[in-house]
Amino acid sequence: MENPPPPPHPHRKASEASPWVRRFAPLVPLRGTVLDVACGSGRHSRLFLELGHGVTAIDRDTSGVAGLEDLPAAEIIEADLEDGAPWPLAGRLFAAVVVTNYLHRPLLPILRDTVQAGGVFIYETFARGNERFRRPRNPDHLLADGELLELVQGRLDVVAYEHGVTEVGGETAVVQRLAAVNALSAPGRGAEPEPRPLHPEPGTPPSPRSNGRG
Ligand SMILES: C[S@@+](CC[C@H](N)C(=O)[O-])C[C@H]1O[C@@H](n2cnc3c(N)ncnc32)[C@H](O)[C@@H]1O
Repeated sequence: MENPPPPPHPHRKASEASPWVRRFAPLVPLRGTVLDVACGSGRHSRLFLELGHGVTAIDRDTSGVAGLEDLPAAEIIEADLEDGAPWPLAGRLFAAVVVTNYLHRPLLPILRDTVQAGGVFIYETFARGNERFRRPRNPDHLLADGELLELVQGRLDVVAYEHGVTEVGGETAVVQRLAAVNALSAPGRGAEPEPRPLHPEPGTPPSPRSNGRG
């Protein structure tokens, strides 16, 4: 008997992108290439491709992005990021580094330093306290209070940070989220960063003065 077709991969559509990632996507420099770390089904790779960016999607299991392989704007890399091998993208910088629902602590400084000047670091994953509600419960997979802030302190400009209880996939969860920009080498940059437009949560009416781009 023939096997039934496999069930569709969850999150196969860009429309299922995290609202946090969608909110800060306008900060990514136009046409810059986005690194989607532990890309899974590629919901964020698809989002950035739709927005006109190039995408490098990396995961140990790239079956979720198999449909993107033939797109000239997409680069798919299958690699285990936790096996002790050197970082597979050494020497490369990206207009954005996007990480959601994934944490391997030794990679954090590498990912931060992979954001090019003017680029953006967008991170969202589970944090301490989550173990009370749902998986992941292993502290190795949960960010500590302020951990993403500490990671970027003195290196990137924080645009937004949150840590708290929310809903993920219909379940209560504790998450930490960061959006930060590598503006430290911007010309004319003094001790204080230049203020940039805020990016409202989806559904908030746009400010009449904002052009929606960082
Ligand atoms: C919960 S999923 C998140 C996927 C995607 N970032 C998202 O939010 O839709 C975690 C992803 O991390 C990947 N992953 C886990 N361990 C990994 C490793 N050692 N190296 C590379 N990818 C890994 C898994 O294959 C999976 O796609």
